[in-house]
Amino acid sequence: MRIAQRMESIPFSGIRKVFEEVIRREKAGERIIHLNIGRPDFDTPKNIKEAAKKALDEGKVHYGSNYGIMELREAIARKTERENRVSYDPASEIIVTVGANEGVLLAMMALLNPGDEVLIPDPVWLHYFYCARMAGAVPVSVPTKEENEFVPQIDDFRSLISPKTKMVVLTSPNNPTGTVAGKDALEALARLVQEKDLFVISDEIYEAMVYDGSRHISIATLSGMKQRTIIVNGFSKRYSMTGWRLGWIAADKDLVSAMIRIHQYTTVCATTFAQWGAVEALSGPQDEVQRMIEEFDRRRKLVFNALKEMPGVRVSAPKGAFYIFPNIQGTGKSCDELTGYLLDEAKIAVVPGSVFGKYGHGYLRISYANSYENLEKAMNNMLSALRKLL
Ligand SMILES: Cc1ncc(COP(=O)(O)O)c(C=O)c1O
Repeated sequence: MRIAQRMESIPFSGIRKVFEEVIRREKAGERIIHLNIGRPDFDTPKNIKEAAKKALDEGKVHYGSNYGIMELREAIARKTERENRVSYDPASEIIVTVGANEGVLLAMMALLNPGDEVLIPDPVWLHYFYCARMAGAVPVSVPTKEENEFVPQIDDFRSLISPKTKMVVLTSPNNPTGTVAGKDALEALARLVQEKDLFVISDEIYEAMVYDGSRHISIATLSGMKQRTIIVNGFSKRYSMTGWRLGWIAADKDLVSAMIRIHQYTTVCATTFAQWGAVEALSGPQDEVQRMIEEFDRRRKLVFNALKEMPGVRVSAPKGAFYIFPNIQGTGKSCDELTGYLLDEAKIAVVPGSVFGKYGHGYLRISYANSYENLEKAMNNMLSALRKLL
C-alpha cells in the first residue's frame, strides 16, 4: 500500500517542528518564553462568546447554507463596503470558510489547472505553497528584499512571469515580515495582473493590525481588479478567534460559483453556532479589538528598540501584523542554528526564517503575541545570549 505521490511535496509544517521541540523541553522542566506563536494571546471578546452561547442555547446546531448563514454574509458585505470600499453581493459573492486556510485552498483548487504557476512573494506563510501543490500547480517564489522593506517589486514579478503563470498571491500585512504594501506597489501589480490576465489571492487577515500611520489597502478596490481578486480574510487574528476556525472569501460571483462546489464537497458549511458569534464580532463594539491593537503596537516598539541594540542583528520596524523579522547574519550562525542556540541559552522560542521560504534564510521570526513582561525578559535574555556569542 502506498500513499499518494502528491504527498511527497507536502512536508510537515516547520513551525510545528519548533513547537514540538519546545513542548519536549517544557515537559523536561525547562521554562521557555514563546515568541514562536502565530496567534493573539488575548481571549475572544466576551460579547462574541455570549452570542455563540446564545445560538447554541437556541438550538442553532444544524447544517446551515453552504455559503454561510445569511446574517454573517451580510455583516461581511457591510464590513467590506465600509472598511475596504468594495461591494460584494452577500447572496452570491461571499463564502464563510473554515478559517482563511480553507479560503486559500478553495481559491487554488477552483482556479488552477495542473502545471499552472502561482507567484508567491517569499518569505511568506508557506500555506500558499502547499495549497498550490495540492491543486497540482507550481508555486514560484518571488524574492522580497530587506532593502525594500520586503515589499515585492514589480520587476521581480515581471521577470518570473511565464506563459503558465495564472495567479499571484499577495499577503499584506505579511507574515513573517510585517510588511504592508503601499498604494504604488499595489497599483503597479494591478496593472501587471491585468496585462497578463492573472488572478490575485489577497490575504488580508492582518488588515486591522497596522501601525505608524500605515494603511491597509485591498487590491480588489483598484480599477479592474474586483473580478480578478479573491479576498481571503478571517476572524482568527482580529478577534482572537483562532480556535473558532472561521474565515471568508469574497470574490466575483463566477469565481464563487466555482469555489462553493469545493466547499460543498469538503466542509459543507462552517460551524453554525460559531457563525453567530462572528456576526457579533463584525456588528458589535470594536473597542476590545482596538485595545488589543494598541497593546501590540506597544510591544512592537519594545521589541524593535531592543533588537536594534543587539550585536549581530539588523532590523527595521514592521508596519503590520504582530511579527518582527530581524536579519541575524551578523551573528555568524544560520537562522536554524541561532534558533537552537537561543532555545538553549536564552530560553526563548523563535522561528527560523528558513521556515518561510528560500529567501527567509538569515532571519528570525519573532512574534510579539506575548505579554509585555515576558517580552522584556525575552529581549534581555536574547541580548545576554548574543553578547556571549559575539
Ligand atoms: C497570512 C495568514 N493567513 C491566514 C492564516 C490562517 O488564518 P485562519 O486561522 O483563519 O485559517 C495565517 C495564520 O497564521 C496567516 O499568517
